[in-house]
Amino acid sequence: MSVKISVQNLTLMYSDGVESLRDISIDVIENAVNVFFGPSGGGKSTLLRALNRLNDLADVATAVGSIIFNGKNILEPDTNIIELRRKVGMVFSRPAPLPLSIYENIIYGLRLMGERSKAVLDQRVEQALRQAVLWDEVYDRLNDPASAISGGQQQRLCIARVLALEPEVIMLDEPTSALDPVSTAKIEGMLNELKSRFTIILVPHNVQQAARTADYAGFFLQSKLVEYAPGKELFVNPKVKETQDYVTGRFG
Ligand SMILES: Nc1ncnc2c1ncn2[C@@H]1O[C@H](COP(=O)(O)OP(=O)(O)O)[C@@H](O)[C@H]1O
Ligand SMILES: [Mg+2]
Repeated sequence: MSVKISVQNLTLMYSDGVESLRDISIDVIENAVNVFFGPSGGGKSTLLRALNRLNDLADVATAVGSIIFNGKNILEPDTNIIELRRKVGMVFSRPAPLPLSIYENIIYGLRLMGERSKAVLDQRVEQALRQAVLWDEVYDRLNDPASAISGGQQQRLCIARVLALEPEVIMLDEPTSALDPVSTAKIEGMLNELKSRFTIILVPHNVQQAARTADYAGFFLQSKLVEYAPGKELFVNPKVKETQDYVTGRFG
């Protein structure tokens, strides 16, 4: 196993004085599903946004520590943010396709990067839709508006949009919280396939999903990382009492 992103002693405070991450150190493992879970308000979304510098858009007062990605601390001011966000893509909890066709949604980022070849764009669209397990459902209506497909399909389209940019890491923040069980299962199955080519970071929408999907799992509680271990260990034999209580449903 190799480390894809190493978070070292990261402490982050918002301008209103809320300390959302307190001395977090965690390794994101390459070609695995890395699950960050725990009750709401624990700092999971803040950590994800730190990993591709989306927090730059929020009111952050201090961020100290380091986040090493491809040998470089991405918190340094000279980081190429556009390149970082292409390599470390993000999928949010509510599917939010652009008000464009299915095809245009997928090539939007590629066009911005300057890709003009129709053959390349067509090929990327098919590849991304196949990886997102959506191709068979939409191949004959790529020019329909994205709003015409179901919520579950829209979320897979949002994943395809990220995949089309050929990222190294894909972060998903509660991607199935608005979806039915069938759509949820499709996405969980897809992540299990995608990990052979990408590194996945998933904030699950409940403990059951965490246990089903995690190769590695970190339990976050009140800005702190309580416990971090391979999923099989953490859910079967948690070492810390808070983790035990949470995974057995005693609080949450
Ligand atoms: N943009 C923000 N500005 C100020 N405080 C925030 C912001 N985003 C999150 N917080 C606070 O940081 C803490 C952690 O939130 P968050 O990272 O969203 O946790 P989680 O994703 O685990 O629910 C909470 O107390 C939340 O209110
Ligand atoms: Mg969150």
